[in-house]
Amino acid sequence: MSGGSRDLSKLRSDFPILSKVRQRDGKPLIYLDNAATSLKPRQVVAAIKSYYENYCANVHRGVYSLSQEATNLYEDSRAEVARFIGCDSSELVFTKNTTDGINIVAHGLSWNTGDEVVLSVMEHHSNIVPWQIVAKRFGVKLRYIGITDSGELDLEELERVVTSRTRVVAICHVSNVLGTINDVKRIKKITHENGALMLVDAAQSVPHIPVNVKDLECDILAFSGHKALGPTGIGCLYVRKGVEEEIDPPFGGGEMINNVELSGYTLNDMPWRLEAGTPNIAGAIGLGAAISYLRKVGMDAIMEHERGLTDMALKLLGEVDRVEIYGPKDPSRSCGIVAFNLRGVTGDLVAALLDEFENVAVRSGFHCAQPLHMRLGIKGSVRISFYLYNTVEELMIFQKALERISREFGAGGSRTD
Ligand SMILES: Cc1ncc(COP(=O)(O)O)c(C=O)c1O
Repeated sequence: MSGGSRDLSKLRSDFPILSKVRQRDGKPLIYLDNAATSLKPRQVVAAIKSYYENYCANVHRGVYSLSQEATNLYEDSRAEVARFIGCDSSELVFTKNTTDGINIVAHGLSWNTGDEVVLSVMEHHSNIVPWQIVAKRFGVKLRYIGITDSGELDLEELERVVTSRTRVVAICHVSNVLGTINDVKRIKKITHENGALMLVDAAQSVPHIPVNVKDLECDILAFSGHKALGPTGIGCLYVRKGVEEEIDPPFGGGEMINNVELSGYTLNDMPWRLEAGTPNIAGAIGLGAAISYLRKVGMDAIMEHERGLTDMALKLLGEVDRVEIYGPKDPSRSCGIVAFNLRGVTGDLVAALLDEFENVAVRSGFHCAQPLHMRLGIKGSVRISFYLYNTVEELMIFQKALERISREFGAGGSRTD
């Protein structure tokens, strides 16, 4: 049984790790940490293996056929990913991950003292610290907008904060803690009315909901392959045609140059001009396989499935004593992520006990969003996050284990070990 209208449970057999059981008690893995990284289907692993076994050569460098085959696979993957998010291949740069993409932009733009960057308090550290680094280095001023008590961005504050001094507005599409889906189109409108660039951190949206960059009308968008069924070490940076002129490549060497003399260099065309050195060829090919897997399942079906699970999770959590939930309570306003605390029990203990009792993997702590936790006035949270292979049955096992923790541990419970 699945949480949405279409049954995706048949796909579980594509994920070998889900059919393994824990040696000591025979319990299968219940993986609810998909916001950190997703599991990988065998199709992705096979594509990576096939590159190493059959096409192992560098790309863009050899005239021999093996190198050309590797180049074709690499560029085919780019075309697949570009189609998936609705852009041209020339606008799609392969990076290491979301963090790398945001850093390329932050360090590639040329800054004037007094320029401003607008962020929100719900950002992941990867969309805060790169800007803090350029703020320190170039005298750029960072301005933050807050969130409402229901965990939504305060867009009225955004209207006040974004001005002609704003150079970049960099906001997550989906919060990695609250699951909130932000109104990127409205943010874009405010951004463009003030002549600034709009960067979307899409680490938590591209894997889970349909994303089309032309529809969002953003200038820049970054995401990671490993959260979207792909391997680690590969990500993507969409740069709208023309915007690359504002980004000086922060790293030099490899395919990013056209011509080199001792006195200087000329830059290659997009997308290669932002890809320095030998790229992660196997990673890009694996990501291409992951994206075609997602495309075949259908992003609408995945979104609907996760919405069903979110709805169910909110209900099940609501039945457990002492649970406090953060973020939107309406599953249509959030995206496969629920953060909560169990009063009287630390998040780390909750996570450790869920693992101990039922082999449930959840994340505890700040989830790389410390400022957001400060805003919420909490020292951390427990986060459950879903993907296409999760089921309602898994959520019910999770809930039973959480009820047991609530009964036996912390305030009101007898055990504190
Ligand atoms: C919203 C958001 N932005 C950025 C990142 C950073 O992703 P990566 O570590 O793959 O660069 C994450 C990862 O959790 C995220 O959730």
